[in-house]
Amino acid sequence: MYYRRHMNRFTARIYDRMFRKSEEAGLTAIRRDALADARGEVLEIGAGTGLNLRAYPRQGITRIVATEPNPAMSRQLEQKVGDAPAPVEIVSASAERLPFPDATFDTVVGTLVLCEPKDPARVVEEVARVLKPGGRYLFLEHVRSDEPKLARRQDRYAPLWRTVSGGCNCNRSTLATIEASGLDVERASMGRFPKSPTITRPLLRGAAVRGDYL
Ligand SMILES: C[S@@+](CC[C@H](N)C(=O)[O-])C[C@H]1O[C@@H](n2cnc3c(N)ncnc32)[C@H](O)[C@@H]1O
Repeated sequence: MYYRRHMNRFTARIYDRMFRKSEEAGLTAIRRDALADARGEVLEIGAGTGLNLRAYPRQGITRIVATEPNPAMSRQLEQKVGDAPAPVEIVSASAERLPFPDATFDTVVGTLVLCEPKDPARVVEEVARVLKPGGRYLFLEHVRSDEPKLARRQDRYAPLWRTVSGGCNCNRSTLATIEASGLDVERASMGRFPKSPTITRPLLRGAAVRGDYL
């Protein structure tokens, strides 16, 4: 418990510095592209220090609700609300249990977040639940590689990586988790996480829509 709290604070303190090279090498542009279809009432899960706030489209968003379970991350997020194109409300919550009624949001955003929760399938179920019918889940996630050799390497290093990173799983088949949720995957493509360790390089980007039937 003490270790977890300490890691949470430590990660929050170094997060933006740790990401700077990746952001400059293209991650900020990838974020912008991934969020281009965000509109209306937006929920962001695991919003971290708020690096997405400057990447949202400048028009068409009425409100951003940013959830984050780590208070040290939220404190930094608070300092970036001015970067957003709409009012931001910060809510302390785990994405496995979102404190919102069914069918609340037009868009749900999750970037680099499904690698951490204990139950990512439960998170995507929650995403589907809080989306309005026709609403869109925009995702950007580092995932298990399609190349067997790299996937084996990810499996080998996963336990060590989880420990040193404070809870990140580098070998999750996240697209399969999203497909299993009942959301309709509208598009999905693979790219590379700029300036990252090889085991976190495969980067999935896409969108899934909530049909009327869910
Ligand atoms: C790698 S950071 C990504 C932060 C931000 N989304 C970004 O793109 O920079 C992962 C974030 O997920 C959060 N997180 C971990 N477990 C979570 C959970 N169960 N529900 C929601 N967020 C979670 C962490 O606190 C952290 O802020």
